[in-house]
Amino acid sequence: MEKKASSFSGQIGFVLAAAGSAVGVGNLWRFPYLAAKDGGGLFLLVYLMLVLTFGFTLLTSDIAIGRRTKQSAIRAYETMRPKWKFLGILTFLVPVLIMTYYAVIGGWITKYAAVYLTGQSAAAAEDGYFTSFITSPVSPVVFALLFMGVTAFIVYNGVEGGIERVSRYMMPILLVLVVVIAGYALTLRHEDASGQMRTGLEGLRYYLTPHMEGLTVSRFLQILLDAMSQLFFSLSVSMGIMITYGSYMKKETSIEKSVSQIEIFDTGVALLAGLMIVPAVFVFSGGDQSAMQSGPGLMFQTLPKVFDSMGGGQFGQIVGALFFLLVLFAALTSAISLMETVVSIVIDKFHVKRAVACIIVFIGMMLLALPSSLGNGVWSHIQILGMDFLTFFDFISNSVIMPIVALLTCIFIGYVVKTQLVVDEVKSSSKFSREKLFVVVIKYIAPIFIVAILVSSVLSGLGIITI
Ligand code: PHE
Repeated sequence: MEKKASSFSGQIGFVLAAAGSAVGVGNLWRFPYLAAKDGGGLFLLVYLMLVLTFGFTLLTSDIAIGRRTKQSAIRAYETMRPKWKFLGILTFLVPVLIMTYYAVIGGWITKYAAVYLTGQSAAAAEDGYFTSFITSPVSPVVFALLFMGVTAFIVYNGVEGGIERVSRYMMPILLVLVVVIAGYALTLRHEDASGQMRTGLEGLRYYLTPHMEGLTVSRFLQILLDAMSQLFFSLSVSMGIMITYGSYMKKETSIEKSVSQIEIFDTGVALLAGLMIVPAVFVFSGGDQSAMQSGPGLMFQTLPKVFDSMGGGQFGQIVGALFFLLVLFAALTSAISLMETVVSIVIDKFHVKRAVACIIVFIGMMLLALPSSLGNGVWSHIQILGMDFLTFFDFISNSVIMPIVALLTCIFIGYVVKTQLVVDEVKSSSKFSREKLFVVVIKYIAPIFIVAILVSSVLSGLGIITI
């Protein structure tokens, strides 16, 4: 991948590659369930504000650091300041942790693609289907193995040929399909047992309205933390991946433009995915809070009902099959970028062959993925801080380690190497119209904000304070 990637053919090539890593399960699976859980429009507002400030700042620094040092994350910080080597190592932890549960979600998606391809769409739409699948001890593990096996195989063979070329077609098709399903979801009408009729447009209103009712300080804090961790996860920032990508970027390519395009692309897909899922949950559940809050399973419980409602016969089946195949593809491209990061570091550090590194990483990841998979079923009695394994790994990587990495990056850029370094790097290829915003966010706003959220949420998560 390194060789190929070093020849990013300019703006479009770079943006597409970065978007391939950024657009994934985070946009399609994670964003909609957070939006449903965190009060619809309120979450959207908070998220958009964070994208335009934090997202822009962190993405710009990651890419600029990469392009300037021409190193991957683990080396980049060390190259600039030897004492900051630890930040590279900390950064490396994130993809490792994420991979452990990405494998599980990837497995769920693989399962649903298989279910739709084999004509079992009606069964998938039944209540309880998803729960009985994820609580079983064997099947989700087998599907996670399959998903990771394919990922490892592609990483072993190099990303060059197929995948990159195919993704140029698959991504746009996925986008069109998401738009079509979202449009269809808005036309849904459903009458519940009590005769109450709900429409997709009412669901749309739920999705877009900032729900302030009963908003407490601690709930608002939770929403901020959710939005912030979603931002890191979705943009693939603060985990070294964008540093690596930046190191392959040509000097002539505009960093500012690339950052804007990645932000628009990534956020656009997330908003559309929410449009496809949130109004539909509303229609089928009547806005029932427990359904809106159903969390990680949301996509797998709601969309089968949407597909099932697309009229009898084969139509819903075909749309469902196509949809889950495309999501599987998006998940694979992200999983590949995660695994590639880990594998290249293993090769670097331990001087082993690529095949050996792939096997080690695959086995290690699968062992780590086991608890996340079994935690929904046979190991559900084991809880860490009140969370099952999958939620816990997600929490630790996105809500704890990534904010810490982001915070340290801000301190490093703002006060150690100084912002001018990034500013010069950006200006070496284009103007930097958001320069002032960048400096203020990275030096003052982001560090204060991250510390405040992190400290209060960790303390309240541990039950030390109640807000
Ligand atoms: N950004 C990806 C997504 O939204 C997830 C991801 C995280 C991919 C980290 C690569 C690295 O799904």
